[in-house]
Amino acid sequence: MLESSVAKKTISPGGNVTGVVELPGDKSISHRYAILAALAEGTSEIRNYSSSADCLSTIECLRKLGVEIDITKEFVKVVGHGLDGLKASKRALDAGNSGSTIRMLSGVLAGQNFTSTITGDKSLQRRPMRRVVEPLRQMGAEIRAKDDRAPLEIRGAKLKAIDYTPPIPSAQVKSAVLLAGLYADGVTTVRESVRTRDHTEITLREMGARIETTKGQIQIHPRPKLQPRQFIVPGDLSGSVFLIAAALVLPESSVMLHNVGLNPTRTKILDFLISIGASINLASVQLRGGELIGDVSIRHAKLTGGTIAGPQVAEMIDELPMLAALGPYTENGIEIHDAKELRVKESDRIATISAGLKSMGAQVEEFPDGMKVAGKSAGKLRGAKIDPEGDHRIAMALTVAALGAQGDTIIRDSECVGVSFPEFFTTLEKLRDAKSQDDPA
Ligand code: S3P
Repeated sequence: MLESSVAKKTISPGGNVTGVVELPGDKSISHRYAILAALAEGTSEIRNYSSSADCLSTIECLRKLGVEIDITKEFVKVVGHGLDGLKASKRALDAGNSGSTIRMLSGVLAGQNFTSTITGDKSLQRRPMRRVVEPLRQMGAEIRAKDDRAPLEIRGAKLKAIDYTPPIPSAQVKSAVLLAGLYADGVTTVRESVRTRDHTEITLREMGARIETTKGQIQIHPRPKLQPRQFIVPGDLSGSVFLIAAALVLPESSVMLHNVGLNPTRTKILDFLISIGASINLASVQLRGGELIGDVSIRHAKLTGGTIAGPQVAEMIDELPMLAALGPYTENGIEIHDAKELRVKESDRIATISAGLKSMGAQVEEFPDGMKVAGKSAGKLRGAKIDPEGDHRIAMALTVAALGAQGDTIIRDSECVGVSFPEFFTTLEKLRDAKSQDDPA
């Protein structure tokens, strides 16, 4: 499913982005549809399933657990055999680069009557897993993990229901506990101070589970018979943000994005961009499968700049690298605080985005929990050689920053965008009138 791409990409600045885009499926929602379809009683079809490497990792893990999954041109077909239909895998499950895969599947594996090992690539093996291991141990699973990192050896058990407040707001942790809650001996509660993305709750409800959400509290009743569904994954808003940002960097741009996921737990980025001057309009907003979708149109506009802190951080966690890279294109710059979490994503995103922007001549001050990127008065960015350190969102954010720079930028290891948005470069090129060229590695 990954497009063939080359390691190095040269980004020539200039031009504008104009046109209409149909986005590939949302990564977060695709993971959940695949996992829950695998636990349903019957066959589900998922249309517009994300083409990302991360979501393929979820499919591969489920296949190793004995789930029959066919990928056709039109949809992904998943044959579920109920909550107890998974089988032990002889080999370790490989989540690749995907934090969502390892953390959410850990919740499912905790409720099985067999032992599994789940691991991932070097980046994933460095990321903290205590946040998910801890509540699952409280529920009764036995988990072995050296220094609380992958590989995780999860011995499933008869689980106890718990009442859990994750110390860090995290949709992945919330989802892991809710998924384990499907196998528990009573009602499992998760409490959150910041409302993180709620696709797990929506999907569970759509499939017939009893799940109650009141302010700051989610309760899941155990052992539902999950009904298979015909799913259509909304377009990926987090991926679309890079195209929106391209329209904000390049004058005379105007882009329309079709059928984008507009779940309110994901759209704080649009609110923020509008608050700093972006011209963004929504149309044809409707509810489909419990998820809001609609068309997003964006026109180039001048940005004032602003600060992101407190609860906003968790609400736009994946968009912060792009916002930082927009800093040099704003009047007053972009400042980010309370975002220590960025240091434990696919890369240390505070360090990688700061280093990339600095090499392009931006004025950046790094803090332990954020950064300050100076606005236009610090001067125009210049082309540079960028190493995104294998992090898809850093590669895309700096590509967009490069569009308005002076001179060409070379993005090393550009194929890492395939982790979330394999079509990124081709989509961007289609929207541009000035072209970027591929360099053989
Ligand atoms: C995700 C949740 C976020 C986000 C990640 C996807 C999800 O992580 O950064 O890209 O699909 O639940 P956390 O929940 O750990 O903040």
